[in-house]
Amino acid sequence: MTMLTILAQAVWFILPALAPSSGAVLVGGGPAIDGGRKDRKGRRILGDGKTWRGLVGGTFVGMALGAVLNTIAILLNAPDWQFAADWPETLLILFLLSFGSMMGDIGGSWLKRRLGMGKGAKFPVMDQYDLLIGALFLLALFRWEWFFQRYINDDYIYGFIFILVLIPMLHRMTNIAGYRMGKKEVPW
Ligand code: CTP
Ligand code: MG
Repeated sequence: MTMLTILAQAVWFILPALAPSSGAVLVGGGPAIDGGRKDRKGRRILGDGKTWRGLVGGTFVGMALGAVLNTIAILLNAPDWQFAADWPETLLILFLLSFGSMMGDIGGSWLKRRLGMGKGAKFPVMDQYDLLIGALFLLALFRWEWFFQRYINDDYIYGFIFILVLIPMLHRMTNIAGYRMGKKEVPW
C-alpha cells in the first residue's frame, strides 16, 4: 500500500461520518430533539439546532453516500475500497459511522449548553471533532477491528493523522458554504 493510497482510503472511509452534518443542515428543521426542555439552570438540553429531521436525514445522507462509494468499489472490482465484504456488514459500518457522527454532534451541543453557550456559539476543537469522536466511539464499541485495521495499524496511522488535519479545513469550507446558502446563521 503506497502512502497516497493510505491517505486516499483514510478519506474515503471517513466520508460517511463527514457528510451527515451537511445533510442535517440541508434537511434539518421542525421539532427539536429535546422538545424544548431545559435543565435546572434554565438552559436548553440540546437547543433548536438539533432536530429529529436533521438526525434522521443526516444519518440517511451519510449512509447513502457510503452505499454509493461501496457500489463504486464493487463495480470497479476494488475490494480494498469496500467498507466490508457483504452488504449487511457494510450497512452496519455505515450506520456506525453516520449515526455515530450525528450522536457526536448532539453530544457537542449538549456540552455547549451545559457550559452555558447558546446555539451557534463557537466552541473550537469540539465543533470540529465532535462528529469524529461520536463515530469513533460507536466503532470502538461495535467494530473496533474495522477501525483499528484502517486507521491505527502500521502506516494506517498516517491516514488517521491526515483526516485529523483535513477535518477542520473541510468544516470551515462547508460552514462558509452553508452560511452563504442561508442555511447556517453563523459561518462556523
Ligand atoms: N441540524 C438539525 N439537526 C441536527 C443537526 C443539525 O436540524 N441533529 C441543522 C440545524 O438547522 C442546525 C444546523 O443543522 O442549526 C447546523 O448544525 P450545527 O452547526 O451543529 O448547529 P448550531 O446551529 O451551530 O448549534 P449548536 O451550537 O448546538 O452546535
Ligand atoms: Mg455543532
